[in-house]
Amino acid sequence: MVMVMLGINEGANSSVCVYDGGRIRFAVQEERVARKKEFIGFPHEALAFTLAHCGLTPKDIEAVCLSNLASPTVTRSAFLADYDDNLKSLGDLIGAGEGRAAAKRLFRRLPAPLRLTLRRARYGGMNQSIEEALAAHGLAGLPVNRFSHHSNHAASAYFAMRRDPDERHLVLTLDGGGDDTCATVHLAEGGRMTLIARTPFGHSLGQIYGRVTHLMGMTPHEHEYKLMGMAPYADPKYVAPALDILRGYLDLDPDDPLLFKRKIPEETGFIGRRLLRDFRRVRFDSLAGAVQAFAEELMVKWVRAAIARTGVTNVVAGGGVFMNVRANKAIAELPEIEFFDVLPSCGDETLPFGSVWQAAFAADPAANETIALDDVYLGPEAATRLDAARQAFAGRLSFDRQDDANGRIADLLAEGAVVARCAGRMEFGARALGNRSVLADPANERVVTRINKMIKKRDFWMPFAPAMTAAAAETYLRLPPSVPRPRLSPYMMHSFDTTDRRDDLFAGTHPYDGTARAQIVHPDTASDFHAVIARFGEITGRPVVLNSSFNLHGFPIVMDAMDACQVMCETEIEHLFIDDIHVTKKP
Ligand SMILES: [Fe+2]
Repeated sequence: MVMVMLGINEGANSSVCVYDGGRIRFAVQEERVARKKEFIGFPHEALAFTLAHCGLTPKDIEAVCLSNLASPTVTRSAFLADYDDNLKSLGDLIGAGEGRAAAKRLFRRLPAPLRLTLRRARYGGMNQSIEEALAAHGLAGLPVNRFSHHSNHAASAYFAMRRDPDERHLVLTLDGGGDDTCATVHLAEGGRMTLIARTPFGHSLGQIYGRVTHLMGMTPHEHEYKLMGMAPYADPKYVAPALDILRGYLDLDPDDPLLFKRKIPEETGFIGRRLLRDFRRVRFDSLAGAVQAFAEELMVKWVRAAIARTGVTNVVAGGGVFMNVRANKAIAELPEIEFFDVLPSCGDETLPFGSVWQAAFAADPAANETIALDDVYLGPEAATRLDAARQAFAGRLSFDRQDDANGRIADLLAEGAVVARCAGRMEFGARALGNRSVLADPANERVVTRINKMIKKRDFWMPFAPAMTAAAAETYLRLPPSVPRPRLSPYMMHSFDTTDRRDDLFAGTHPYDGTARAQIVHPDTASDFHAVIARFGEITGRPVVLNSSFNLHGFPIVMDAMDACQVMCETEIEHLFIDDIHVTKKP
């Protein structure tokens, strides 16, 4: 049975996908269409875009699959305000007339069963608003499937990354929280997932990491990777006492080490004032080092406990905390793990993949054999709005079609140029994987300064990343046996130690410890990008390029020709390729 279904994530980093015959045929995040980074809320613009772009009408769609049992209604500004409120005392909140924040704090003190009843009463209203949101797109009356937030994280990781549809897998999910849960362990086999452990909301490693990120003056739920990037700089001597404090917040449950359990009285989403008290005199790099070490230590313990309990050594993972590539590296290097992979862009943006796959499998278990993720180039073509872009920028940009665009890009990179590439279908998710990327020669140590000056304004301590041909992976990277072959790390979800050839990709490694969050580029899934790197290798003897996302600092990655031309005009970028069209600035 072939069904076309729509998957919708209506919460954080909201998104839409189209399912057909086991595969995700199209997917896009609201942030890309609406040009609002990390958008939280119903993805109205992405949904309208998807329906029009794919030529879908309501009669083509058999069902809509949502990403949560209870659709979140929080806005991004309310979400961030909660972090600030968290630093204030209850008395301060009441005194300042901030009744909503105070009520929320008091709500958390109610007994859990009463909270659940009150939440369920609220959920009814939320579901109603989803009906209205769907009706606005002509989708009223379609069957709506709801699966829980963490079952969607688990299903998306399992169906996309599993070694084989019939082998047994351990499926781990870990995030800040969703549908009253912040971590799960499933056993999966033949398409069927069985929940064996569920950590309820309030015992969340993700929340602790997010609250520390906020404490350090950065944006929670977005900038956690900046702490991860800073962590290697920290002196272990000063990390140790801060790590000890964090160990007092959360651990595995001594009665069941597949669960997390907090050791402090308040829930992990309410530790703002505790953090202020405990870390007031701790230097920023020591705290970054401590929270990263804490995350790695706890995740490794948890994974080991799950393997020890089940004896299953094929492990796949999803949920926002697994965006932490340094923790993934520590897990991948465990001696007892045989197979370990992480869903690309495993935050809430990929929840719809899990929901449509769960619905497809529930409708027909034979779908198990066809459900897979071939690659993540799932968005619109670069040439979308090309004619409009040519018209809008005719006075400022020249457009010259090239016979061998891949070769021309490689030549320019070898000459030391920085080249923006907007080609083929847009990558889905957080990482630019060559199709919406800014490329450069990573052996050129001045290139980081040049890219930062031209476009990125990246934080000074954050490394760039390399992309290399699959054939060159062993030359540059120390690859643990657990990282899957032949689909070897195409999505930048793993970090690796580098070999003594690291000077070839110097600007794409972490300057302090030489690790690299590498993209390994395969000719069958990214043929043109692979051809660029291979050609660059022929010229220079180094088949590796620096790959950074093509976006203005603080803005979403470009979606199509129009966005690409816009960013080019607002920056000092000199070379842009839209598919095989070389775009330059008119004098
Ligand atoms: Fe989540």
